[in-house]
Amino acid sequence: MTRNLLILGGTLEARELGAAIAARGWQGTLSLAGRVERPLRQPLPQRVGGFGGVEGLRSYLRDNAITHVIDATHPFAAQMSRNAVAACSAARVPLLALSRAPWVAQEGDLWVHVADIPGAVAALDGAPRRVMLAIGRQNLPAFAACPQHFYLLRLVDAPSAPLPLPRAHVIVDRGPFTAEQDQALMAAHQIDLIISKNAGGTGAYAKIIAARQLGLPVIMIDRPHVPPRHEVHDVAGVMAWLDHAGTDLGV
Ligand SMILES: NC(=O)c1ccc[n+]([C@@H]2O[C@H](COP(=O)([O-])OP(=O)(O)OC[C@H]3O[C@@H](n4cnc5c(N)ncnc54)[C@H](OP(=O)(O)O)[C@@H]3O)[C@@H](O)[C@H]2O)c1
Repeated sequence: MTRNLLILGGTLEARELGAAIAARGWQGTLSLAGRVERPLRQPLPQRVGGFGGVEGLRSYLRDNAITHVIDATHPFAAQMSRNAVAACSAARVPLLALSRAPWVAQEGDLWVHVADIPGAVAALDGAPRRVMLAIGRQNLPAFAACPQHFYLLRLVDAPSAPLPLPRAHVIVDRGPFTAEQDQALMAAHQIDLIISKNAGGTGAYAKIIAARQLGLPVIMIDRPHVPPRHEVHDVAGVMAWLDHAGTDLGV
């Protein structure tokens, strides 16, 4: 069958999937939100920017004769994922999610689970700490409610506006990181608490290993809710679905 895929991206996995699809010679477009100033070169043609909600995505699917959608967004990009479920269902276009399995605490991990960003902010209501806040730029303003802490921030792009946090040190780096590097970084900044989204995957896991090795607590932000959909955890699973079962509209 002819395939014309739309991959919702912004992750390493989406890029890897794009490479696998390009290698097969299939037609596909990779969609990015446009949040990062210097996106990595992608193996497929790309489009950048929001679709305009569910209706906008539905129109895009129709106007571009998309045959399959692969949602390979970050597990915290829940709005995009919800929109994809609704638009694909309305347009009767098969949808598959390529998602990372969440991290699970191991022996030695000192995790405090919180449900969302406000939960993480509430958990910081106390005496000054030295916090590694590794959650991306978008959610930083919420932490302005706790200005007593020192924050070590690691961002993909240098901030373009003054930070909402009075005591912060910024490192601009997109990784990948190693546990040894992150351990050294935490020690150098005398970090005593890490705040992390439960992103899953290997790219951001170094800081979790480093925290375990240093015996530091982690405030772990649980994943947002996304409606049920077909889901696989690796590129091979997507390719198998596209080869064999990619016409299934159910969940
Ligand atoms: N959230 C994170 O922690 C995180 C971490 C690493 C990478 N990312 C990546 O950064 C991007 C934005 O994440 P987010 O948390 O801001 O998403 P979000 O809150 O779920 O999405 C907000 C809106 O941004 C647009 N959008 C998001 N992803 C898009 C994509 N791949 N292509 C086109 N439009 C997209 C959509 O706009 P319309 O409604 O107008 O269509 C969506 O409704 C995603 O591509 C995600 O994979 C996110």
